[in-house]
Amino acid sequence: MSDPPVDPTLFRQQIARWVTGVAIVTAREGSADVGLTVNSLTSIALDPPLLLVSLSEQADTTPVVGRVGTFGVSLLTVHQRALSERFARTLPPAAKFEGVALHRGATGSALLDGALATFDCRVEASHPHGDHRLVIGRVIASETGSDALPLVFFRSRYAPPEAIPGLGPRASSGP
Ligand SMILES: Cc1cc2nc3c(=O)[nH]c(=O)nc-3n(C[C@H](O)[C@H](O)[C@H](O)COP(=O)(O)O)c2cc1C
Repeated sequence: MSDPPVDPTLFRQQIARWVTGVAIVTAREGSADVGLTVNSLTSIALDPPLLLVSLSEQADTTPVVGRVGTFGVSLLTVHQRALSERFARTLPPAAKFEGVALHRGATGSALLDGALATFDCRVEASHPHGDHRLVIGRVIASETGSDALPLVFFRSRYAPPEAIPGLGPRASSGP
């Protein structure tokens, strides 16, 4: 007995109602940096600290993460929307990083200056599922960064943070 098919376009519209932040995942192979915008990031364990990200098999960054076995994550602020847009475009990797203020994590991955927080990860597991690959990374180093408001993605658009109750400047300075 097979389940009735779910329309992929409808599924995309429906899951877009799940509000997320936005992050840049990077990896470094030799002296070359690669990176892409993601919103599939989630923490799956605190002890040990594990992050999960779902990477498209089509993305140039995905095989590099597989080969080097490490990646960096930078959580974006509302002021970094242009970086989110740039890293979501199909560009040569060097063009993505041109003029971007960054520093290096313990793994050598690029971490974006001015991010909310950054994480340096070692790949613990990687599972292909459908057209994406689930990559689980163990956080081996992390930094707390800017206290600016987050970049928020909702219904396939960047949402102004003040549009979301409780996320305004006063709430952001809370615990
Ligand atoms: C807000 C947003 C979230 C995204 N989230 C993901 C994601 O979680 N996984 C993914 O593979 N691509 C995601 N993308 C698409 C990639 O950023 C895009 O395909 C990028 O061009 C891939 O770059 P690359 O081929 O240089 O690695 C997202 C794009 C946007 C705008």
